[in-house]
Amino acid sequence: MEKVEELISEKEILAKVEEIGKQISDDFKEGDITIVSVLKGSFIFTADLVRNINLPVEIAFIAASSYGASTVSSGELKIRYDIDIPVKDKDIILVEDIVDTGLTISRLKEYLFELGAKSVKICTIFDKVERREKQVDIDYCGFVIPNEFVVGYGLDYNNKYRNLKNLCKITM
Ligand code: IMP
Ligand code: MG
Repeated sequence: MEKVEELISEKEILAKVEEIGKQISDDFKEGDITIVSVLKGSFIFTADLVRNINLPVEIAFIAASSYGASTVSSGELKIRYDIDIPVKDKDIILVEDIVDTGLTISRLKEYLFELGAKSVKICTIFDKVERREKQVDIDYCGFVIPNEFVVGYGLDYNNKYRNLKNLCKITM
């Protein structure tokens, strides 16, 4: 059986999400925002974040898998579910649950630019910066976390634990 231990409490997470929402509301006060939420992991963060942004927001979802360094097609992006709204000339915020190697988010950013986005900011609630393989600028970051496998607040292990309200470290 897996052992699950809290790293970051629900209270700390929600306070941070509120702070990020305020920051985004300040930074974007001139214009509209299009949120592109990366499924499945960021569905909970996205739901909390958008309710802390006091501006008009459009929300779209995308699901992708990128092949990591362990496969031949390193960094190749496969879109499994695509956005259903136009992004041409729009200011986008890509919302992620966690940035690990950085491969997925940097390919998704390129993809949105290929579709004609005017700007693309990256917002992640967790950042495992030690594991980075591909340098990527993170515009809004909740917590830098240690190099542990984590679950909760949307993140899964074998499709489970996404519903935990806090962030936990999991050991097998
Ligand atoms: P990367 O930055 O391309 O390596 O991949 C990031 C994706 O890997 C995230 O969106 C998560 O879906 C998944 N991931 C990375 N680290 C963890 C973790 O500790 N727990 C759960 N999922 C993770
Ligand atoms: Mg993910």
